[in-house]
Amino acid sequence: RAALSNELSGSEVIVVSNREPYIHNRTEGGEISLQIPASGLVSALEPVVRACGGTWVAHGSGTADRETVDANDRVPVPPNHPSYTLRRVWLSEEEQDGYYYGAANEGLWPLCHIAFVRPIFREADWQFYRSVNEKFADAIVAEAKREDPIILVQDYHFALLPRMIRDRLPRATIVTFWHIPWPNAETFGICPWREEIIDGLLGSSILGFHTQAHCNNFLDAVDSYVESRIDREKDSVFFGGEETLIRPYPISIEWPPTAMEGQKPVEECRRIVRERLGLSQDMRIGVGIERFDYTKGIIDRMQAIDALLTEHPEWHGNFAFVQVAAPTRSKLSNYRQLQEEAEALAREINEKHGSDDYEPIKLLIRHHEPDQVFELFRAADLCIVSSLHDGMNLVAKEFVAARDDEQGVLILSAFAGASRELSEALIVNPYNAHAMGEAINRALTMPQPEQRERMRLMRDQVKERNVYRWAGQMLLAASRLRKQQRIRRLI
Ligand code: F6P
Repeated sequence: RAALSNELSGSEVIVVSNREPYIHNRTEGGEISLQIPASGLVSALEPVVRACGGTWVAHGSGTADRETVDANDRVPVPPNHPSYTLRRVWLSEEEQDGYYYGAANEGLWPLCHIAFVRPIFREADWQFYRSVNEKFADAIVAEAKREDPIILVQDYHFALLPRMIRDRLPRATIVTFWHIPWPNAETFGICPWREEIIDGLLGSSILGFHTQAHCNNFLDAVDSYVESRIDREKDSVFFGGEETLIRPYPISIEWPPTAMEGQKPVEECRRIVRERLGLSQDMRIGVGIERFDYTKGIIDRMQAIDALLTEHPEWHGNFAFVQVAAPTRSKLSNYRQLQEEAEALAREINEKHGSDDYEPIKLLIRHHEPDQVFELFRAADLCIVSSLHDGMNLVAKEFVAARDDEQGVLILSAFAGASRELSEALIVNPYNAHAMGEAINRALTMPQPEQRERMRLMRDQVKERNVYRWAGQMLLAASRLRKQQRIRRLI
């Protein structure tokens, strides 16, 4: 953390993402409440920006956001101990519908996740995507105090932004990180905006993905759809006279996580959570926690619970699965349908395997703050992350970080980037309900020494490859590039 601040001393850092790290909402009682959004991007990046300082430009989405900013739309954050500036950008409902719900979440999200949901590409949405990217480019230029800031562009909402910034601030060092998977070239090729997206991203100095496989897919797409020179040895692209380095940077979490501060001992968490959920104290518990998104495999996971209880009736009355799902993007019909389908399936499984005093699946559809999530992790015997496809998945890493007692089993999808690092998890194919049911049985019967061995190795991994390392590697590469460019300008 200290090394990161040192490396950046004297540089100006601007981060841009769609989702803001702090949301101010007006409650029904009329007070202003603060919400930390359920977002992997925010939970990873926020501690880094807190450590480095600078400016974070993001969409102001809370109902009381406008009341908390100054005349320049800025608010110092975190609220209790400010260490950086949040600059909010306002979007009209029309802009949000076209750019966020439409082009980003009905187009690029399913395109990149390959979760068998057909992407929708509307030209009108794309116009908004383009104009909102322009709006953020203007906000960044207005925030930049120097001509050569380091700008960290986050995610699939801003594929066009790196080029727009490059045009306005040619000396900026632009590091873009794509938080979701990048599909193979053939799949990406169906996107009507493919050339424009590639051109936009190649405005970056460095473009990062979670895994080498995603980098390779991107390079193949560049090769297939635009005129450029690719250096496969160096993993870089020369396009329009500029070079972009393509690099894998597996994202992670802070270590130790802030949410661990003030956590009660595991035994107490187990007792409190069971009491709160109306479960007997000796009930074994599995947890799943995420946004209610079709890429997360929530339905598939419930089918695995069904398979477990069908094939291992000894768990009837002895095992409950707690699924916490934060509502998300509910304006889109796919997301509403998923919620209805999950509620119906949970009812069906509870009727099939439950009784008057036993409910195998507890579906809690609401937002949980990070400390509540960690309490639940600590109370559980196992955690299931069954993404159908996921860039990284930080829930898996958070579960591991929560278990300082070195107990608990992680069941992890082979199609989440996290499975490349957390190989001591029970790795499953989420499309195979029977095998996932067997993995749950294995987790529930795993001896404590084996749990400890596995958990220790995973904790070492997450501790060492934490989010400061993720950001540090990118920022180090950025600062090296800057120095090289300065020298080249002197020659
Ligand atoms: O990486 C994908 C991501 O940006 C995550 O940070 C987050 O979980 C999600 O997508 C964004 O969700 P939202 O649309 O709620 O900001």
